[in-house]
Amino acid sequence: MTLAISKQMMPVYDRPMIYFPISTLMEAGVRDILIISTPADLPLFKRLLGDGSNWGINLSYLPQAHPNGLAEAYRIGADFVRGGPSVLILGDNIFHGSGLTTRMLEAKARTIGATVFGYRVADPCRFGIVTFNDEGRAVSIEEKPPEPRSNWAVTGLYFYDEKVVDIAASIKPSPRGELEITDVNRAYLEMGQLYVERLTRGIAWLDSGTPDSLLDAASYVRALENRQGERIACPEVIALERGFITRDGLADLGRDLGNSDYGSYLLRMAQEYGTN
Ligand code: G1P
Repeated sequence: MTLAISKQMMPVYDRPMIYFPISTLMEAGVRDILIISTPADLPLFKRLLGDGSNWGINLSYLPQAHPNGLAEAYRIGADFVRGGPSVLILGDNIFHGSGLTTRMLEAKARTIGATVFGYRVADPCRFGIVTFNDEGRAVSIEEKPPEPRSNWAVTGLYFYDEKVVDIAASIKPSPRGELEITDVNRAYLEMGQLYVERLTRGIAWLDSGTPDSLLDAASYVRALENRQGERIACPEVIALERGFITRDGLADLGRDLGNSDYGSYLLRMAQEYGTN
């Protein structure tokens, strides 16, 4: 079960940003997804994505009335996740690279505690920052520290056990007035149940939440796709690979898109699947 917060309907290169986090969740084998967004954007997401059945997934929607912070997702989505483990991914986070799916499946298999992913960044003031002791265990986690004690940012992909709902219900707003996901993670850290997995160089993590990072993300996607002739974060193709839909189902989605590049790509993938 999953919560996705998505701020806006911006595209990254040639498709809506929301395709990227949804693709990541689908790669992790997640099929029940709750999309949380502003009351203004939510109808647009609904119109774009529907109930998810085309992609073999189940999509639900709930509004976040005010920008009260990421951890509020677990208040809004409490009934959705209650009693079970969940994954939260931020709507502007893009993950790509070899080994990521394995890392996510390992995190999902962990039944107790929380797993987050650390990524080395040049601009640590912009993120939740984690520090490690000599044994490599996380010892502190701070939200956007003015004087960061490390360069390890916490990415916007969080795996939690069922305790997250109660923890999110108990935290107080930060000085900037938000329910911080970092405070939820710190609660797990204090219980000795926060696992911070460092993402290595083979994996790209981009957040597309600022104009510069959005442009960087679009350039990255364009460069990869033009070079390889294959699309990354294509939910329709992931749905086929994960067994959520059939080859015929993928071909139907391609035909529905008519005479477009994206439609032709889906038809080609349906034809080629399993042949190479
Ligand atoms: C949020 C989190 C931060 C995390 C970041 C990842 O920041 O609060 O801890 O490192 O996402 O993208 P925000 O997007 O709210 O600036």
